[in-house]
Amino acid sequence: MSPTRRRFLTTASSALSLLALSRSRSLSQTATQTDASIDIFPTETKSTIAPEIYSHFIEHLGGVIYDGVWVGEKSKIPNEHGIRKAFIDAMRAVQAPVLRWPGGCFAESYDWRDGIGPIPTRPQRTAFWEQEDTNHFGTHEFMATCRTIGCKPYLAANLRSLPARDFYQYMEYCNAPAGTNALAKLRAANGDAEPFNVEFWGVGNESWGCGGNLTPEEYGAKYRDYTTWYPRYGSEAPAGADQSRRKDVKLIACGPNGDDTRWTQEVMRSITPSHLPFGLSVHYYTSGDAKQFAKGDAIQFDDATHYDLLARGSYMENVIGDHWKMLDEIDPNHKVKLVVDEWGAWYGKSTEIGPQYNLSQQSTMRDALLTGITLDTFQRHSDKVAMANVAQSINCIHSLMLASEDKFTVTPTFHIFQMYLPHRGARTLRTEFSAPAIPNTLATFSPVGGNSYIGSTGPIDKLAGLSGSASLRGKELTLSVVNPHLTHPLTTELVLHESTIASVRGTVLVGSSVHDHNTFEQPNAVHPTPVQIATPSGRRLIHTFPPASVTVLQFQLA
Ligand code: AHR
Repeated sequence: MSPTRRRFLTTASSALSLLALSRSRSLSQTATQTDASIDIFPTETKSTIAPEIYSHFIEHLGGVIYDGVWVGEKSKIPNEHGIRKAFIDAMRAVQAPVLRWPGGCFAESYDWRDGIGPIPTRPQRTAFWEQEDTNHFGTHEFMATCRTIGCKPYLAANLRSLPARDFYQYMEYCNAPAGTNALAKLRAANGDAEPFNVEFWGVGNESWGCGGNLTPEEYGAKYRDYTTWYPRYGSEAPAGADQSRRKDVKLIACGPNGDDTRWTQEVMRSITPSHLPFGLSVHYYTSGDAKQFAKGDAIQFDDATHYDLLARGSYMENVIGDHWKMLDEIDPNHKVKLVVDEWGAWYGKSTEIGPQYNLSQQSTMRDALLTGITLDTFQRHSDKVAMANVAQSINCIHSLMLASEDKFTVTPTFHIFQMYLPHRGARTLRTEFSAPAIPNTLATFSPVGGNSYIGSTGPIDKLAGLSGSASLRGKELTLSVVNPHLTHPLTTELVLHESTIASVRGTVLVGSSVHDHNTFEQPNAVHPTPVQIATPSGRRLIHTFPPASVTVLQFQLA
């Protein structure tokens, strides 16, 4: 279908309402001009969308752990076992599936032994982000956080400054069955007799950068070294043991900086084929300013910068596609999946909550649009992306929450995570979106890859005028749609091929301006509202997607 197609269809409703058009009615009533179309094919299901693509990440960085997550049991701030209650509630509200910790770059200088034992006796250390760390939040506090939220832990292990022995002993400390060995007993003495059963283990973090500035060959050698042997409590559990409590771990190897496929190729070539990891970690940030990483303002930006950021953010599609192709060469059966365990828009200083909240930034409707575009990309590639972790959940780069002492707010990004919940565990559908593309007047080319800092992108000279994804669970079809245009509402014809719509309901997130954001004083400035939809019949609908909006429509099929 032509991307600029404009159709004349029959409607009996005003522009912003949605009306079903059955075939029998299509020659009656007045003509409506449409700007775009979305074709959905409910009979063409693809893979299941892993709930883990809506996962999270917290690091000892600025105000993420201390203040954001951990306030301490004696705090006046409402908490459960020292964990901020508002954080727990918000993470439950988005049904956080997995939480990654302790970094990030912090992980590569972190000694897990510093963070166990009675809190008052733990050593204070100068940590990666030039911050004194009390170690009050350690492994047991992290596991309690995951338990309270109801999510799985994902540990990033230190490869740069701890030996391989620590890698497998940390696994032993976390996963050895109760009472079976010295580390299981130490864990029990520290308050947790039962194993944590940590399934996801990152083998280093950004080894091409803060994880040691390694070459891919050097990292490959380290990966082999650290993973040749580690305890497998699942597969090697003795007969008669409670097998359900023992799970084999899933290793995640350090993948590229942005779209650096050369890194991936060399690393994959150096890994012994019988020791392939479960996943390859991919980090792709979208800098607020294309020319200088981590620049640009979170709130103040002009229209051209808005489109440029979203166009570069959409490059996630290429990062996934390019890496999948590269993995194809070494792992044609695609045993190894992509784990995009850091993503988001990264701006320069100016909107941080306070001086000690390093890398904290505000989050506007523009970030909600990027969130929608990114989650839709993961959903369209549900066969390739096994997990993704937004960086980071609270008080950081692309956060769902902001907190300072007793003040707390969710961001527009939080609302997108919540609106997209119906997609998780559903099956991706083939869709065709057709709308006039938006030119990116600031498009620049930054070389991809190398050991340059993250955020590298390729040439992105236009932004999709309308994008999204659809999924199906039983008779429930969910469609998410992003209209990134700042001024154009898009009246769109939606066609559900070979299906009949029984009912439809929807939610939209849209501000009065794309700069809108929530603050401690106005925590509800941006919030989702229901879309009013007439009960449809047939397989066609007309809907107008407002400018700078994210819409989720839920259809019940007949
Ligand atoms: O998320 C902030 C930092 O970005 C992480 O510590 C690091 O992995 C990446 O460079």
